[in-house]
Amino acid sequence: MSNQSDTSTKPVEVLSNRERAERWAIDPHQDPRSIPLDELNPGHPARFEADTALAVFDRLREEDPVHFCPRSQFGPYWSITKLADIRHVDTHHEIFSSDIRNGGIMLGGQPNQSDDPNPRYHLPMFIMQDPPKHTEQRAVVAPKFKPDYLATLAGLIRERACDILDNLPRNEEFDWVSHVSVELTGRMLATLFDVPQDDRHRLIAWSDTVQDISNPDVFETPAEGFDELWRCWEYFDAVWKERAARSEPGDDLISMLAWGDGTRNMPPNEYLGNILLLIVGGNDTTRNSISGGVLALNRFPQEYDKLRRDHSLVSNMVPEIIRFQSPVAYMARTAMQDTELGGKTIRAGERVAMWYASGNRDASAIDNPDQFIIDRAQPRKHTAFGSGIHRCLGNRLGEMQLNILWEETLKRFDRIEVTGEPKFARTSFIRGIRELPVTIRA
Ligand code: HEM
Repeated sequence: MSNQSDTSTKPVEVLSNRERAERWAIDPHQDPRSIPLDELNPGHPARFEADTALAVFDRLREEDPVHFCPRSQFGPYWSITKLADIRHVDTHHEIFSSDIRNGGIMLGGQPNQSDDPNPRYHLPMFIMQDPPKHTEQRAVVAPKFKPDYLATLAGLIRERACDILDNLPRNEEFDWVSHVSVELTGRMLATLFDVPQDDRHRLIAWSDTVQDISNPDVFETPAEGFDELWRCWEYFDAVWKERAARSEPGDDLISMLAWGDGTRNMPPNEYLGNILLLIVGGNDTTRNSISGGVLALNRFPQEYDKLRRDHSLVSNMVPEIIRFQSPVAYMARTAMQDTELGGKTIRAGERVAMWYASGNRDASAIDNPDQFIIDRAQPRKHTAFGSGIHRCLGNRLGEMQLNILWEETLKRFDRIEVTGEPKFARTSFIRGIRELPVTIRA
């Protein structure tokens, strides 16, 4: 399940990740307004790595909000960049399919209707299903994300947040991503799966593998990345067997899958797919919102002052952080019939990317969208969690972790100061911050 290569089918081409990157190389700093519209490829990972992607969307929202890119490393695809159009696509699942057999939710996904002889590279998961299978599988894990269950986790999250913050270095630069964002979300994942806390770094590494599968700096070929992902299956296969053999189901996510109607008979590739969905969903999103909040407060110091004066603004700030970061940059769909949108005709079979990162900067829907405003009115008027039947299952859990972390941070530190250049992930699926050097002055 990667965005930069087709993971809904086996990789058929022989290009290495490096050759592929070289073939599609661009200057990510070139002003997007100087590029002919039909040459704009908003999903190019280099733009996300260089943090210049939002400028492409600014232009598209103004000039061509339903945009067709005829050629890219993902094949041809449409980009939907205005919030109302994104909601339209997201809430019409009968027209815009998520099914992996039609191409799934990531750019580069190809239709795959046949029985794949090699399921090693074909990883179905419920976010890449349409009803009825989606409905059935989502219902199996949904109880884990209900408010009454989440309330039981609050104390544990607070304890961990305190432990992480109390052990941070003072008066020396350190990486906020690895020390805080990854730590808190990694510990939460291990809890949700009920696996040893010491294994949390393995979960994080598999989450990173999903995003890095086509990154030439990490893997020579996507197949190498898949080898690593199947190690994740080996790990969780052992956990599944242990949970399935118990006399009663536990309340962890693996037990729920192992005992659930609609999931207990999943083949290995589908089990791996769903595990990866939960790992990426629970890690990359919240992790990058935690880092994105620190970065935004440093880029808008008057907002940091406001927060210092009034700690009760945290609960309003958290959805604003999520809007501003938009950690899931897009979700893709496949049109199942010819359909009109924004005066354009999208043909059956064509691929469509809903750019949440762009919808959340749409001035026709959100006032001053490029400003980070922690006491913004209606901060939840964003589309970072999607909408429709696939709307994020973990949204409350993500917000809860951010709320608690900020409450405890403000009790301890006057300021988390960004003291070095952030490093952004080379992927257009997740707006990821890989490193964020900060200093806390005692
Ligand atoms: C700031 C945090 C988060 C953001 C911004 C976020 C964003 C999203 C988005 C955009 C979608 C797809 C929505 C659509 O297609 O309409 C999604 C789906 C999903 N998210 Fe999250 N997410 C976050 C936290 C979490 C957490 C903590 C979990 C816990 C494991 C999680 C689990 C899921 C799952 C399982 C789905 C698939 C839902 C479905 O297909 O029915 N997410 N998320």
